[in-house]
Formats: sequence, C-alpha cells, structure tokens
Amino acid sequence: MGSPSEEQAPTDALYPQQAVIVCAADGRRGEADALAQRLGLPVTVEPPQEAGRLALVLTAERLQVQLTGAAAPGAVYADFVTGATARRGREAARADEGLLRAAGARQGQTPEVIDTTAGLGRDAWLLAAVGCRVTLVERHPAVSALLADALERARADEEAAPIAAGIELIEAEAIAVLAGRAADTIIVDPMHPPRRKSAAVRKEMQVFRALVGADGDSDALLPTAIAAARRRVVVKRPRGAVALPGPAPSGSIDGRSTRFDIYAGGAEST
Ligand SMILES: C[S@@+](CC[C@H](N)C(=O)[O-])C[C@H]1O[C@@H](n2cnc3c(N)ncnc32)[C@H](O)[C@@H]1O
Repeated sequence: MGSPSEEQAPTDALYPQQAVIVCAADGRRGEADALAQRLGLPVTVEPPQEAGRLALVLTAERLQVQLTGAAAPGAVYADFVTGATARRGREAARADEGLLRAAGARQGQTPEVIDTTAGLGRDAWLLAAVGCRVTLVERHPAVSALLADALERARADEEAAPIAAGIELIEAEAIAVLAGRAADTIIVDPMHPPRRKSAAVRKEMQVFRALVGADGDSDALLPTAIAAARRRVVVKRPRGAVALPGPAPSGSIDGRSTRFDIYAGGAEST
C-alpha cells in the first residue's frame, strides 16, 4: 500500500498543523514511506511552501520536527549522543540533579522507573545514565518516532549504547500502560502553559507545542501513577506553579526553574 498523498492528508486532531513527512536524504525514501504509512501522513521531498505547517524531516543524520516558513524556529529532535542531554547524562553521577534526588536515584540507588510522559526523553536519559532501568511511555506517534530514532542512534554509539540498553520505549497512553505495570518510581511531566523562558527554550517549546498540544488530561494521570508506584511518584512542575489537583505532595524539591513534587506510591513492594 502506498503512503497517503498530500491531497489526502488527514485532518487528524493529532496533527492540527497538517503535518507532512519530508524525505530530505538520498537513499532514505523507503524509511520515509514506512514512517508516513505508520503515522498516516503524506510524504514530500521539499518542505511545504506555506508558513506554519509542521514537517517531520528525515535527514541523512536523524528525524527532526520543524515548522515551515522563513521565520520558523529551528528543528527539534531527541538526541542522546551529542549536546546537552548527553552531557547531563555524563555528569549525572557527580551533579546535584533535583530529578535524581526526587526519584530516589542517588548514592547507588537505581529504582526501576516508568516515565509516563516521555517527550524528548531528557529526564529518562538522566535516570538511565545513573543505572536505572527506564520504561518510556509516549502517546504521540510522532514524538515516539523521534524517540525511537534517537535511541537507534544511541545504540550505535559506543558511549551511549550501554545507557540506551536500559531503556524501553512504549508508544501508548500511559494510563493504559499503568493498568498492567508497576515500578518503583513513576515520573509525570505533562506539558504546562507557556511562561517566561530563554529565547532558545521558547522557540523549541513553540515547535513541540505545535506538535503535541496541551496535555489537558494530566489530572487523571496522577492518581493512576500513585496506584502503580511501589515507592514514589515525581511530578515535574514549573517553579511557582500550583501542584496538580489531587492529593497534596508529601515533599518537593526546588530546582532553578523547575519543582519536583513527590507523592508516596500506593502499590505493594515486591
Ligand atoms: C512536557 S513533555 C515531557 C518532556 C520530558 N520530561 C523530557 O524530559 O523530554 C510531555 C510529553 O508527554 C506526553 N504525554 C502527556 N500525557 C501523556 C499520557 N497520558 N500518556 C503518554 N504520553 C503522554 C506528551 O505527548 C508529551 O510528548
């Protein structure tokens, strides 16, 4: 079966910006077609002319997502081999990372973790870098594809491969996954409303938000996560934001711009 044509583009709620796959690498058309088939999106060779469309671009190096138009921000992609996430992973054991403290992943402790809101996998990589086995759950198929692409590149890298080996990716709604699984620590980091951030972060958020939207259902995730956590749930919030509705956190750890709210888990230890 061929991939859908540009005219047949689904007006699916998953892709409000009429997303398209752009195959920008010679020799990767087969992969682009397979991805298009899986995501139900059309494939082109050139990005669409009009501004404000979402393009999932398969380059010679990676899969990335970008908005079209001359004033569009740069491409967004997951990356565990170069850049800030890889560096944080390398320094994780020595750095005082609020996430690791909140997750109980310090001083040789390596809880088994489910990250229910995987996104670009940055938090999960930090946890995996200190030795935790991490299950990444991501419901948006395009974000899941970005993660799968980054994990594949990590598996091919000598330094990153041992960390990537501790990560499992599941493309699914986390509430459904947690109905059948428990973990020591469960991470919840839903999208939050726009706020003041550095220009670079704002631009990246603009692209990511155009892709995944607002996660308006995150209140339902917290009680499910608490029921499935053997030790604790960590909810990542902007510093100064109110806690998610539901039970009050039993503790919090403040970072520079982020707060980690901690809830005691309700699942039996095995
Ligand atoms: C703010 S981002 C997470 C960023 C991530 N912590 C990181 O380090 O890159 C939120 C992500 O969680 C996903 N998400 C939100 N609610 C979800 C749910 N109930 N099940 C699965 N994925 C979910 C969204 O699609 C989005 O990609």
